Amino acid sequence: MEVIIQPTPEAASQVAARLIARLFREKPAAVLGLATGSTPVLLYRELVRMKLDWQRVTTFNLDEYVGLAPDHPASYHHLMEENLFRHVNIHAENVHIPDGQAQNIPEFCQGYEAQIRAGGGIDLQVLGIGTDGHIGFNEPTSSLASRTRIKTLTLETRRDNAHFFGSEDAVPRHVITMGIGTILDARNILLLAFGDHKAAAVAGAVEGPVSAMNPASALQLHPLVTFVVDKAAASVLRKTEYYRWVYDNKPNWQRA
Ligand code: GLP
Repeated sequence: MEVIIQPTPEAASQVAARLIARLFREKPAAVLGLATGSTPVLLYRELVRMKLDWQRVTTFNLDEYVGLAPDHPASYHHLMEENLFRHVNIHAENVHIPDGQAQNIPEFCQGYEAQIRAGGGIDLQVLGIGTDGHIGFNEPTSSLASRTRIKTLTLETRRDNAHFFGSEDAVPRHVITMGIGTILDARNILLLAFGDHKAAAVAGAVEGPVSAMNPASALQLHPLVTFVVDKAAASVLRKTEYYRWVYDNKPNWQRA
């Protein structure tokens, strides 16, 4: 696991964008796993600014709220369209986001897994992290082997996300999310976290025991994970000096 600590969310997002740009250079037909929430918005802004070629890129989003139409202002379809897709030259048929209006949710979820497999698997999965350690919408106690499925949100997550909906009551109770097992199948994982409200979850994920109580700690089982965090989100980590030392002493070929 690599931890890159940057002074600000902007600087961290630039590092993340460079890692994605490198992937596109090495593999123009890359398969990218994408995240939503507020955290990756700066990354998407930076990717748009870089004017990368998305012509052959395929994307799979982590999750969506059950019951929301794609044009609902708080849907992840809408967030992705507004912040990324309508600004880049990606083909609409290469964009995949769980369908919050699927009639048969288990069947939809199986199909989503099959689409990821048929696309050759995810080369790089972008993640945020919830204050309770959730990745995608895999709340604490999610199976570490879980696949794409329906989940019920915790009260904490509904509270955290209320600002997207105007009130806590308006936040859907159910979501469709890739599972932790689905996420761990990605070849590379890039997790972004900003702010001191994320510090405890980040420390638990990187330095805590692997536990379903902090779903992001499952990333310790993956061979190629990079956390890119700002100073505030790194503030509870114990080995920050070591992480900085590693970053400053990277061999040239490893630098983005
Ligand atoms: C949301 C999303 C996650 C996201 C997390 C943090 O509910 N489902 O993918 O990483 O919670 O959100 P934010 O970036 O807004 O803090």
